[in-house]
Amino acid sequence: MSTKGYSSRTNFRPASNGSGEKAEEPLYVNIRELGSGSFGQVQLAYNRQTGEKVAIKLLQRGPDKVTKNVERELRSHISFCHPHVVRFKNLFLTETHLAVVLEYVDGGDLFGYCSGKGPLPEDEARRFFQQLVIGIDYCHKMGVVNRDVKLENALLDASHTLLKITDFGYAKTSNDSNCMSLVGTPGYAAPEVVSAARKQYDGTKADMWSCGVMLYVMLFHSYPFERADDPPGQKGYAKVLARTLRVDYRIPSKPQVSKDCVALISKLLVADPQGRLSTEGVMKDPWFRKNLPPGVEHLNEQCLRMKMGTEEQAQKEEWIRRKVEEAMTLPGMGSGRQGSGGSARSKSGAMTFDESFEAAYKDEGLR
Ligand SMILES: Nc1ncnc2c1ncn2[C@@H]1O[C@H](COP(=O)(O)OP(=O)(O)O)[C@@H](O)[C@H]1O
Ligand SMILES: [Mg+2]
Repeated sequence: MSTKGYSSRTNFRPASNGSGEKAEEPLYVNIRELGSGSFGQVQLAYNRQTGEKVAIKLLQRGPDKVTKNVERELRSHISFCHPHVVRFKNLFLTETHLAVVLEYVDGGDLFGYCSGKGPLPEDEARRFFQQLVIGIDYCHKMGVVNRDVKLENALLDASHTLLKITDFGYAKTSNDSNCMSLVGTPGYAAPEVVSAARKQYDGTKADMWSCGVMLYVMLFHSYPFERADDPPGQKGYAKVLARTLRVDYRIPSKPQVSKDCVALISKLLVADPQGRLSTEGVMKDPWFRKNLPPGVEHLNEQCLRMKMGTEEQAQKEEWIRRKVEEAMTLPGMGSGRQGSGGSARSKSGAMTFDESFEAAYKDEGLR
């Protein structure tokens, strides 16, 4: 696998400040690759001073990869402090990359876990789903919608019991423009996101649809809107979206799941966002509430109380803005043009929207 220009390095050397001074000793030492997508790659590293392991998400410097979307991702992520959301730790520039330092979560992602296990027992799926919804509820109350909720973006600790949401690459905050664009991953996207009319939609409700898809995938080890005989590639994805718009999914007869569970799925996979449950609605649901660990009820209230002050937040956002602006240029390249943003990115086991998809989508008579 390509390591984009620094494979021979054993550490992350900060970019020189151009003054001819001796470069700083790198703080982070590279261990191995954790994952990669077309947006960049994620490396496991350790902090030389504290010994702490961290995950470093690397984005190639320059206007193509470092866009305003990256700034939005970081702005969304910086203020989060929650047990079910991966913690943002630091940000620095190397000669070649913008490096985002994150809390390291050491048990892989939920996609890998489910691939290895097949359908999860209902109780186990509920445990992950509870954590997912509580984490998403916190993000929504912090004014951030994720817009790419899926198994690959839910990380697990080594004991495979603690779930943490990651990847705010498509996130929006309430200060950003309204949600209108076709983003996310086809099998998880809500009808209003994939519908032909480019109307504003409520990103919180779009996240809830994706939570419903996640619950289904955990329980049945298949995607609700996919069929085994779908053609490969973009044509297959267009079929998935056509079924999404019709909310055309079936509950398999095996493995058998409880009526309450099926009822909850049917309240999330609802075409009309207004009729779809919000996080609060899910948190009142009987299936969700079963075996809910004590104290969880008030977790989000407590976390929201720890929100940083507006001045601190503004200072951090300004720091991010400056770093991202600098990262849009390669050292010695002069000022960077604004990147186009929002390009497709692919992931293991899932494919995101791209231009050829638009053509297949038209073939299905959907646009
Ligand atoms: N904090 C982390 N700890 C451990 N693994 C991580 C972490 N962040 C990301 N990964 C791994 O890297 C993959 C890609 O990271 P992600 O932030 O989702 O980037 P992308 O934008 O490419 O989807 C994840 O699916 C996961 O397997
Ligand atoms: Mg991801």
